[in-house]
Formats: sequence, C-alpha cells, structure tokens
Amino acid sequence: MRRVYNFSPGPAALPLPVLETIRDEMLDYQGTGMSIMEMSHRGKVFEGLLEDINQRLRKLASIPDRFDILYMTGGASAQFAFVPMNLSKRGNSAGYVNTGVWSEKAIEQAKLLGINAFDAGSSKDKNHSYIPNVVTKPGLDYLHITSNNTIYGTQFKKFPDPGDTKLIVDMSSDFLSRPIDWNKMGLVYAGAQKNAGASGITLAIIDRDYYAREPNELPTVFRYSTYGKNQSLYNTPPTFQIYVFGLVLSWIEKQGGLAEMARYNERKADHIYSVMDEFPKFYAGHSVKNARSLMNITFRLPSEELEQKFLKLAEERKLMGLKGHRSVGGLRASVYNAVGEEACQVLSVLMREFARQNGG
Ligand SMILES: Cc1ncc(COP(=O)(O)O)c(C=O)c1O
Repeated sequence: MRRVYNFSPGPAALPLPVLETIRDEMLDYQGTGMSIMEMSHRGKVFEGLLEDINQRLRKLASIPDRFDILYMTGGASAQFAFVPMNLSKRGNSAGYVNTGVWSEKAIEQAKLLGINAFDAGSSKDKNHSYIPNVVTKPGLDYLHITSNNTIYGTQFKKFPDPGDTKLIVDMSSDFLSRPIDWNKMGLVYAGAQKNAGASGITLAIIDRDYYAREPNELPTVFRYSTYGKNQSLYNTPPTFQIYVFGLVLSWIEKQGGLAEMARYNERKADHIYSVMDEFPKFYAGHSVKNARSLMNITFRLPSEELEQKFLKLAEERKLMGLKGHRSVGGLRASVYNAVGEEACQVLSVLMREFARQNGG
C-alpha cells in the first residue's frame, strides 16, 4: 500500500482508521448484509445511526439545546444563498466581513436577493493577508464571517462581537478543528470535506428561533425549518457521507475531543511556521503573523522557478497537494485534523533543507 502525505486543500486527507472501517464495513454494515449505501434512510438502522451521530456531535462540540443540527447538500456555496433567503429579506440589511473569495461569494448571493450587504470590515486592500477590525451597526439581520480563509491562510482567532444581532459563521475549513464558542452564534455551516469527512454533505447548526423569519413564499426544500422539523429526512439525505461523518466524529473523540484537537493542530502548524520564521527572507508567509491559520499555511519562495523545484522535490518525497491557490500563488500546506504531525515534520525537514541548499 502506498499512502502519501496529503496536504490537499479539500477534499482532503481522511484518518486512516476511518478509511479502514469503511473498507471493512463496505459489504456488510454491522450484520445487515448490505452496505450503508444500499439501505433505506427511513429504516431503523440508518435512523438509529443518524440519531447517534446527532447526540455525539452535540456532546463533542458542546452544542447548546437551542440549536438544531441539519445535514444538507449543495456545499457551503448553497449556504451562501440559504442564509439570506431564510434570515433576511429584500430591503433589509445584513453585515458581511470580507476576508476573501468565499466571503465575496456569500456577499454576492445576498445582493442578488436585494439585501443591503453592510461592509463590516474587509482585508481586500492587502489581498486578504490579515483579519480586519470588525465594525458593526445596529439593526442588522445577522453578521456573516468566514472563520478560516482557506485560500489565503488567515483565521479569526477570536470571533467578533456582533452587537445586537447574531453571528453566522462559514466554518468550512476549520469546523471541528477547535472548540466553538456558541455565545452570540446564530448559525454555523461547513462542508465536511476538509476536517470532517467526505464531500457531498454540509452541516448547518442553526438557532431554532430563526425558523420564524422564513418568508412565506420560500419553497419547502429551501427552508432550514424543513430540515430541522424532519430530522434532515424530508428528502433522501447523503447517507454514505453522514456515515463517514460519524466515523470521523468517533475518531476525533478518540483523539481527546476538540480542545485536544486544537492543541494538536497548533503543534502541527508550528513545525512549518517555525521554519518560515527561521528563514524569513526565503519563505514569505502570505498571512501576517497574528492571523496565521492553523489549517492552511501559505507562503511564497524567492522565485517561481524555486517554487516549481520545491514542488517537484516534495512530490518525490510523497508530499502531495502543496501548490498554492492561483490568487495567492506559491505554496499552501493544508494541515486539517487528519493530516498527522509526522507529515508536518517531514515537510518542515524538506523546507529547512531546501532553504539551506538554495541560499536561504
Ligand atoms: C471557507 C470556504 N467556504 C466555502 C467554500 C465552498 O465550499 P463548497 O465547495 O462545499 O461549496 C470553501 C471551499 O473550499 C471554503 O474553503
């Protein structure tokens, strides 16, 4: 078997024990004689699994009772539209913090629906290399932020105070990588494919009070309440992805939970950031230091030739998925939950060696 060190930005590495369980249970899920993909989502087995996953997620992430956990599809991209459709309306105002491409896509959807997207802070002037100060105003339907900026490698260390409204947080690239403070939170959403499983499932954790805001004309399948009131079984949910998500939850529980996951992620990222700090003229980090993401580490080398050379050498050593996003260039190491400390160490050894050999 040839497993590589996988630094892909998403879909991304899954924990090996999760993949092994999927393999072992593929033909016969717990004595049912069929795979999880082949059974009814309304049968006892699947409904039991869903209920168990719900309870375990609520415990793991300390989700207060006022929230429903919804299993949806369409990715975070669909949430960009779901949020304004359900929680605001034409002519109203909602706050948005612009920390990059994904925030901009969310803003675009609100504007399409005729909502005034109030600019509560932006890092656009410096190609999103920092986390801006957030300035809100009274009367907003919500305040939307992107907690981790996958492309640029910046991350909110502390969530802003939303004032008299609540926070809506796109946690696509740091969901379950650290504890979540639910105070002032209205809705958290995330595609599972980075820290929490396979692509095809989106988690939305929503304050039930929001259901009352849904406009009368909103079609049933686009209402959050439809998912909430039907335990995400209004239509056929992505059953296989829910199963994989459950396996990832068990794996995180075994690692010691979210606080432990956060410590581990800090240690992992530190292997790489410390080499960047050792060779600051050679490795130019995209993010300012106080906004550095623990999930996506972005940096440039002195020339594109050196970047190509580095990527080639990395691949020879089984370090894959390190090419940066085109809007930042350079390199990006995505070190989500399932990327082990060993992978980060191996990368840091190569970085140190490469800098020394190339005049760093
Ligand atoms: C922060 C963030 N938000 C949203 C998205 C879009 O997610 P999806 O492709 O699941 O719609 C991504 C994808 O990488 C992301 O990183």
